[in-house]
Amino acid sequence: MAVAMDERWSRRLELVPGGVRLTTCPWPRSTSPSWVLVSPQTVGLCSSDLKEVHRSRDVRSDFGHEMVGLVHSSSTDDFPPGLRVCLDPHIPVTRTTAFGETALLEGPPDQLRAALPTVPDGTPDDRAVFTEPLACAAHCAGNVPAGSQVAIIGAGTAGVLLTVLLRLKGCQVTLVNRSPERLTALSRTALLREVPKVLSREVGTRTFSTVVVTTASLDGATFDSAWDLLPQDGGRLVLFGGIRPDWRVPGTQVLLDGIRRSEQMRELERGGRRALLVGTHGATGADFAAAGAVLAAPLPWTTSHVEELIVDRVTLPGLAALLNDAVRTGRDPIGKHVVDIRR
Ligand SMILES: NC(=O)c1ccc[n+]([C@@H]2O[C@H](COP(=O)([O-])OP(=O)(O)OC[C@H]3O[C@@H](n4cnc5c(N)ncnc54)[C@H](OP(=O)(O)O)[C@@H]3O)[C@@H](O)[C@H]2O)c1
Repeated sequence: MAVAMDERWSRRLELVPGGVRLTTCPWPRSTSPSWVLVSPQTVGLCSSDLKEVHRSRDVRSDFGHEMVGLVHSSSTDDFPPGLRVCLDPHIPVTRTTAFGETALLEGPPDQLRAALPTVPDGTPDDRAVFTEPLACAAHCAGNVPAGSQVAIIGAGTAGVLLTVLLRLKGCQVTLVNRSPERLTALSRTALLREVPKVLSREVGTRTFSTVVVTTASLDGATFDSAWDLLPQDGGRLVLFGGIRPDWRVPGTQVLLDGIRRSEQMRELERGGRRALLVGTHGATGADFAAAGAVLAAPLPWTTSHVEELIVDRVTLPGLAALLNDAVRTGRDPIGKHVVDIRR
């Protein structure tokens, strides 16, 4: 049943030059015949949100997208009030940010259905908030052969979620990170208890049939350390993490970001080593379904689950302060932060 939106006020975070601003505005009103109004409950802070705040992201805006929310009202019976949904930001609909007390989505009905996957009953909000990043990791995991020896370079949220999925695929995963802080924090989690965690500079000379790069950005040193972990021939280097559009593999003309974004496969020979470069970008509806299923089931090796990765929770005003601090200091918060929108 469609319920008309009424005139109330809601708080929302806005990107402004030099940071963010918390504003109070009337509830968004749809100008489209097909819309859904969601009341976000728990929203994750993603590294892409931080890139947008720093103005270092050059693609579409996804500010505030790791959402678990409740449908307030809509133009269609597909979305009954109270339905718990998350958000697939890859689906082209018009929307306001989920860093707000209300989020309005407008678009054709089939696009709205795809953009707002239902959260399975029984999955707590703190776990369901990982649906979108886990779906991207599931998409990436499709490029990793089951049962293989894998090194993941970058122990951020993406690298850790990919570790969980690859363990479910029977892979032996080693998690590699540039600096020790994240590895120290992760060594305290039950989620990753048996996963080897190694500093980049201490990784040594062993090789892995697949190396996945999940770092926030790529530089020559990170590329070289990933490349050196591959066998002389037949390995695959999966490109998941951020890469500047004009970044070329040192000593070659190969532009990597195009390979990542268009999900190409391309052989590279360099320094006496030959490997397949594999790009992975985004997630499909099937990846969202796979992520939802993983979050709805216990993990075979622990009673813990991905919500163990949440390091802090903030309110909307707290998020505004956190993001403006990150702009002022140039230092981003480490680890998964979630926003309790209604607190
Ligand atoms: N392909 C896709 O579909 C897709 C989907 C989602 C996200 N992403 C991208 O994946 C990346 C990681 O996301 P996330 O959420 O995991 O971020 P995150 O939690 O902030 O983790 C960032 C990771 O990158 C490392 N890092 C940052 N700068 C580095 C550098 N210059 N050299 C080496 N390591 C560096 C950090 O290591 P330290 O601990 O040493 O700082 C950390 O391990 C982001 O660029 C994001 O945009 C891609």
